[in-house]
Amino acid sequence: MKILLVGSGGREHALAWAIAKSPNCTKLYCAPGNAGIANDAELVDIGAEDVEALVGFAKENKIDFVVVGPEAPLVAGLVDALEKENIPAFGPKANAAILEGSKGFMKDLCAKCDIPTARYKRFNNLEKATEFIHELGAPIVIKADGLAAGKGVIIAETVDEAIEATKEMLSGSAFGLAGSEIVIEEFMDGEELSYFAISDGENFIPFTSAQDHKRAFDGDEGPNTGGMGAYSPAHFMSDDLEQKIIETIIKPTVKGMEAEGCPFAGVLYAGLMIVDGVPKLIEYNVRFGDPECQPMLMRLKSDIVELLYASATKSFNELAPLEWDQDATLCVVMAANGYPGSYEKGTPIKGTDELNSLADVKLFHAGTLTDNSGALINTGGRVLNIVGKASTIEGAQAKAYEGVSKIDWPDGFCRSDIGWRAVKADKEKAA
Ligand code: AMP
Ligand code: GLY
Repeated sequence: MKILLVGSGGREHALAWAIAKSPNCTKLYCAPGNAGIANDAELVDIGAEDVEALVGFAKENKIDFVVVGPEAPLVAGLVDALEKENIPAFGPKANAAILEGSKGFMKDLCAKCDIPTARYKRFNNLEKATEFIHELGAPIVIKADGLAAGKGVIIAETVDEAIEATKEMLSGSAFGLAGSEIVIEEFMDGEELSYFAISDGENFIPFTSAQDHKRAFDGDEGPNTGGMGAYSPAHFMSDDLEQKIIETIIKPTVKGMEAEGCPFAGVLYAGLMIVDGVPKLIEYNVRFGDPECQPMLMRLKSDIVELLYASATKSFNELAPLEWDQDATLCVVMAANGYPGSYEKGTPIKGTDELNSLADVKLFHAGTLTDNSGALINTGGRVLNIVGKASTIEGAQAKAYEGVSKIDWPDGFCRSDIGWRAVKADKEKAA
């Protein structure tokens, strides 16, 4: 198959690497890609959100299958537009991508289908919102309804802070239109887990779990980011917990979306809070997590193209059970100094060849570009993803940081404690 991959982050580099390995892929294009993806795919100079140009390219180049990485083109209807041209694509149509595109929609689905989640209400009016804030008390969570690049969530420690955040969102000054409607919900205290399942609209295949590190600095301090590192599987995942997640969250979601007339095909990424052993849904994303995808795909032994194509063409029955490497994998993100705030672009990065010569370490690029002189420079905030693999999380952590030590990039930083909860738990178990 000739395959077109859409996106340019670390997630897409991991997807490109996995797709390029597949015997089902004869040619891989990536739009727009990055300097690392260029090793696995031919780059196409079309933005990930330019639906018309992407469809045009797919038609002209007789693309057999399109894999969409990020959420924005899904919400914008890329899969719908490709379907009109009879080009199968992995990812939900716009009416199902709303599961991520509107937090209010997702919460209403939970209410209808009895999916455990934080108690909530939707508002577009400050007075009513303020009443509910007083009723729930702090800590309390205020969320912009629409997509806000992962930044539309405020955890308010006090009622006053919550009212202030509500004012800012509703006035449009915080997140523009995305915040003109908000969800206010109860704060849940527990351990976070990302769980993934691949659906074809009617049925689904459990994928695997990961744990992300959203704060910028060590010890889970500092501002929220897109994710500074992740490992897979999550250390406290068990068969029992996985069954609970599947039965109480994934299954009713797939059935519920079908009943709503917007069947969900693609990857369901459930952001969960495990509260006293009970999984509760924080949010849905409609694409692979970034950076969670990178360590997960390092563990996947099955052919990813077969899996994604089966989701797009409703042919799960022809698929062999997924096979996983029994090793753990851990990904450290290197970001530009200043991220998630403002940072410099165009700073030179060296040491990738030294990193690539290591065994059980893999580099996935995110915001990188090869400049005219052939030097590698950063073009984004999150820039490199270094994944290590070993029989234990601690071993995978050591491997990943061995990779990091090879990188010579004075303008970048990373956390030094990715996987700390899992390593600590393993040590306590051993003691
Ligand atoms: P989201 O963008 O919905 O993933 O939210 C970002 C982060 O905010 C999540 O990863 C959680 O750490 C936190 N969060 C969101 N909603 C809640 C909640 N109801 N209770 C506790 N933490 C939450
Ligand atoms: N790592 C969080 C996300 O992909 O949304």
